[in-house]
Amino acid sequence: MKKFLKILGVLILLVALIIGGFAAFISIRGIPKFEANVPEIPKIEVTPERVEKGKKIASMLCNSCHFDKSTGKFTGREMTEVPEFGKIISRNITQDPEIGIGKWTDSDLVYFIRTGINPHTGQYVPPYMPKLMHISDEDLNSIIAFLRSDDALVQPDKTEGPSCEPSFLTKFLCLVAFKPFPYPEKPIPGPDTTNKLAWGKYLTLYEFECFACHSADFKKMDVGVPENSLGFFGGGNVMRNDQGVLVTTRNLTPDEETGIGNWTEEQFVKAVKFGIVPNGPALRNPMIPYAQLTDEEAKAIYAYLRTVPKIKHAISRGI
Ligand code: HEC
Ligand code: HEC
Repeated sequence: MKKFLKILGVLILLVALIIGGFAAFISIRGIPKFEANVPEIPKIEVTPERVEKGKKIASMLCNSCHFDKSTGKFTGREMTEVPEFGKIISRNITQDPEIGIGKWTDSDLVYFIRTGINPHTGQYVPPYMPKLMHISDEDLNSIIAFLRSDDALVQPDKTEGPSCEPSFLTKFLCLVAFKPFPYPEKPIPGPDTTNKLAWGKYLTLYEFECFACHSADFKKMDVGVPENSLGFFGGGNVMRNDQGVLVTTRNLTPDEETGIGNWTEEQFVKAVKFGIVPNGPALRNPMIPYAQLTDEEAKAIYAYLRTVPKIKHAISRGI
């Protein structure tokens, strides 16, 4: 009996050592680096059309994380929405050559935004900076043209935030789940805007990635094949908003009882563009009013969302 207990003790100690060693390995390894294979792409021409389109997209896609109220520019801020990922600071992406992205080439930006690999250091950036894996080349070019423009939001500024301190969970997920995305092998054309469903799918999944927040769990989303995300559009992600309140994302599937199956197109357009909903007080941050969408775009998103599989998942707004 004594001998058995001794062996058991040694075994428990061994297991503890292995687990401890593994945890130490993850902590020290941190967020991994990869080899950056930046493609040679021709310089992106900055045209007024592209700057205008890029500003529209960036105001709905980059603003919420990179806009800093104190400077009125894209100088970055601390992101407190999902504290389990650690202390995360979005960076200064103004044209300042040292602190911002003034020295990044167009190829550097395209490569980083598509794959999540820093073109200079090889450092991988976890999903707290979204990657636009499927956005069309032209839309991405427009975003970059905007970043290069003389718009006040992106003029050089030396404001520099502290470095990110990713949590153990983030580091662990970088070992088992989060990976850089492959650089696209073929050109990515824009959607056929005469086909309402195809256009809506593009806007919902590939341009604005509404599924990322509106599915069950950021840790189980699949940006490559969004439809494979856990609880696709059934809602459930909990986020801390700018008032410190915990807000749960909602079920946008066409389920009549727990989703938006009974919403009219008009109700939906009002909710997405202005945050006004038929079932209670106005929508709260981090849901932003997508005010720059045209009505036609919002209607295309509605048409697409009517086609996703229904999920029964009731979510209380807690207000
Ligand atoms: C959900 C929040 C979020 C959104 C939305 C977002 N970013 Fe970021 N971004 C981050 C964070 C956080 C980092 C810093 C990551 C790190 O340092 O590990 C970052 C880093 C970057 C960097 C790297 C800067 C550097 O010096 O390393 C660039 C470039 C960038 N973002 C561009 C964009 C653009 C363009 C958009 C819009 C299309 C955008 N981001 C949207 C959160 C976001
Ligand atoms: C950053 C995360 C985030 C993103 C991205 C996001 N949403 Fe939301 N959305 C939320 C949250 C959180 C709520 C709930 C707000 C509340 O309860 O006040 C919400 C609520 C909604 C509602 C109200 C549903 C109801 O039943 O009341 C609609 C409609 C909606 N979002 C549509 C969209 C669409 C369309 C997109 C993409 C264009 C999108 N959302 C992108 C977080 C997000």
